Amino acid sequence: METLFRVIGKDKKENTETFQTASQILREGGLVAFPTETVYGLGGNALDKQASLKIYAAKGRPSDNPLIIHIADIKELNELCVDIPRTAYLLAEKFWPGPLTLVMKKHKKVPYTTTGGLDTVAVRMPNHPTALRLIKKSGILIAAPSANLSGRPSPTSAAHVLQDLNGRIDMIIGDGEGDIGIESTIVDLTCKIPMILRPGYITKEMLSEVLGQVLIDPAVEQGKQCVEKPRAPGMKYRHYAPKGEMVLVEGADERAVVNKINSLVRDKRLQGVKTGILATERTKGSYRADYVISVGNREDEHVISSRLFDVLRSFDDLGVAYIVSESFPRRNVGYAIMNRLSKAAGGRIININEKKENDDDSNRM
Ligand code: TXA
Ligand code: MG
Repeated sequence: METLFRVIGKDKKENTETFQTASQILREGGLVAFPTETVYGLGGNALDKQASLKIYAAKGRPSDNPLIIHIADIKELNELCVDIPRTAYLLAEKFWPGPLTLVMKKHKKVPYTTTGGLDTVAVRMPNHPTALRLIKKSGILIAAPSANLSGRPSPTSAAHVLQDLNGRIDMIIGDGEGDIGIESTIVDLTCKIPMILRPGYITKEMLSEVLGQVLIDPAVEQGKQCVEKPRAPGMKYRHYAPKGEMVLVEGADERAVVNKINSLVRDKRLQGVKTGILATERTKGSYRADYVISVGNREDEHVISSRLFDVLRSFDDLGVAYIVSESFPRRNVGYAIMNRLSKAAGGRIININEKKENDDDSNRM
């Protein structure tokens, strides 16, 4: 299949043509990748069973992993959901358009292929002019998972989408890079107390201001291989993963973290393995590896989230087989950043504080 690639630019006429072509493809049951403020999405008609099957096939995604439906107008909620709680409107008013996905009871119109067999449906209104214009122009509701091959880091640029899906989908619309860079926060409103199924830019604290009490799915807290069955089926798969083996090093003492990372990498280099370090601005000069990439200033969690997936993909492109990453404080967006990083690392986290405590214990004995 040949994939049409168009970029949104300054030429209004060209842009109009791009939206016309994309809308027609979507209406005819085809697939179009498009930008959102989080990551690029792979869109298809949410109410068309065949279209959602095509999405799973193009991504190589297990079909029990449901899709998020993207809307451009709050009224469209009524076409997708039933028993919409008041909290949905409160959250929508505060955070939509924006990086928040709400899970509610599904309308019978929504096919089970789109919801991965669940009786609930995930919906969000993206905050991106191209995404909103595409939804409005096409006149359909667009189911869109992240536009990556299943298991790879989510795409934050059109180049990432081309890398993964060129030749597998009908069209890609390029329009800059997602400024948030990690996928939306998912909140399940069908639980008695609203529950975060996937952390993101909209934090638990921000949600609590509207909802009062909010819980976090225990499967998210575990972060590693899930023991509990996660309520967001997607969270059980090894996600966001670079091709190389990855390890996180966590600790309060920056010097000790740098030393530990250098020693891990040194061992691998001696074995002839190509190594990479995910560093930050202040520490990047202290490392020795084949490739050291800074993800930004440690203090600037928004820059880190926007660059994270691009850095993980860069290690792949460079053929790095062993990656060691610094860790970040698990607060605000840092919580979501650590969720993605620990998944990328398959749960391999070395905590040098803990080790110290253990050592102290053994000394005391
Ligand atoms: O920011 C985003 O959310 C991006 C952009 C494109 O909008 N989309 C995205 O979609 O990240 P995807 O398919 O990569 O992730 C969807 C997640 C999966 O973990 C899936 O299990 C969960 O949403 N999900 C979808 N429907 C659900 C439902 N009814 N109940 C629980 N979890 C659901
Ligand atoms: Mg995804």
